[in-house]
Amino acid sequence: MAALVALQPHRATSLAVDSSIPGLTPFVKWAGGKGSLLRYLQPFIPDYFDNYYEPFLGGGALFFALCGRTTRFRAFLTDTNQELINAYRIIKSEPEDLIRSVSGLRKQYNAASNQEDLYYEIRSWEPTDPIEWAARFIFLNKTCYNGLYRVNPRGEFNVPFGHHKRPKIFDETNIMGISRALRKTHATVRAIDYQKAIVKCQAGDFVYLDPPYHPTSKTSSFTDYTPNGFDEEDQRKLAVEFARLREHGSRVLLSNSDTRLVRKLYYSYYRKSVSVNRPISCVGTGRTGFKELIIFGHMRNKTSIGQGTFSSRQGVFDARELTI
Ligand SMILES: C[S@@+](CC[C@H](N)C(=O)[O-])C[C@H]1O[C@@H](n2cnc3c(N)ncnc32)[C@H](O)[C@@H]1O
Repeated sequence: MAALVALQPHRATSLAVDSSIPGLTPFVKWAGGKGSLLRYLQPFIPDYFDNYYEPFLGGGALFFALCGRTTRFRAFLTDTNQELINAYRIIKSEPEDLIRSVSGLRKQYNAASNQEDLYYEIRSWEPTDPIEWAARFIFLNKTCYNGLYRVNPRGEFNVPFGHHKRPKIFDETNIMGISRALRKTHATVRAIDYQKAIVKCQAGDFVYLDPPYHPTSKTSSFTDYTPNGFDEEDQRKLAVEFARLREHGSRVLLSNSDTRLVRKLYYSYYRKSVSVNRPISCVGTGRTGFKELIIFGHMRNKTSIGQGTFSSRQGVFDARELTI
């Protein structure tokens, strides 16, 4: 509870205040995207925080949900995927030029007599300009197989064509809204490892950790978001970082697959197991009924979870339901 008191300095942000940009959605389809988990995550968003850290950014679903409430916080948005981060940076600084460039690709695609050939042509294109890289990245993400991001040992994107009937390659209003959200939150957007990204987190900051999933079986290894992957040792190190952040008074929320290892690593924290449908089969369990764990190191309201129930905007949770 001591941390909660420290969380309300005069500078702190109340999510009740407006300045919101509602309706934003991720501009990429992303393995492990949190769209379907949002309703379970939202009750754990703190009422007050100064800075928001999302160091496994991906599609950024929770960042966009926060912007739907307020943009009065400072965002630190990072991920090791350089192409993804380049796209966010371009959206922030040059959204009109990006829209022009990706519109050009969409036009070519819609007019192509053989869309598959065009896909492979664009896939092998190596632009020299960051705006074109971002346009190519968004185009490929929406026309490739299942929105996957996978690269070969040379770091070249190698996902096959997706055979989508009418892919919605981008939404201009959404891109312009994202640009505004990134600027309003003075977002720092960088391609760095999560450990480097969270070094400066302090009491009063809100940190959402959504690492690549720990695989539910040995054969399900869709952790290849980047050339480096994220193995069991990385999951263990992340649990240590989670504890460190919590100790320093940051408010930490984490999601991962519901596996024995993840339960073991976070056994002393409050957890909620939820079943979600995954549109991108990222853990090899198929598309439905995938179990995820939400782990939180802070309480949103003053009621202690150990004493029974606590309330949130989404209703009342029972402590027993949260303890596995
Ligand atoms: C589960 S996804 C995040 C999904 C995101 N929350 C969303 O809503 O789309 C995990 C992300 O972590 C990134 N990643 C993998 N290893 C990383 C590392 N060591 N540091 C930072 N980011 C990493 C991947 O590139 C990927 O975008």
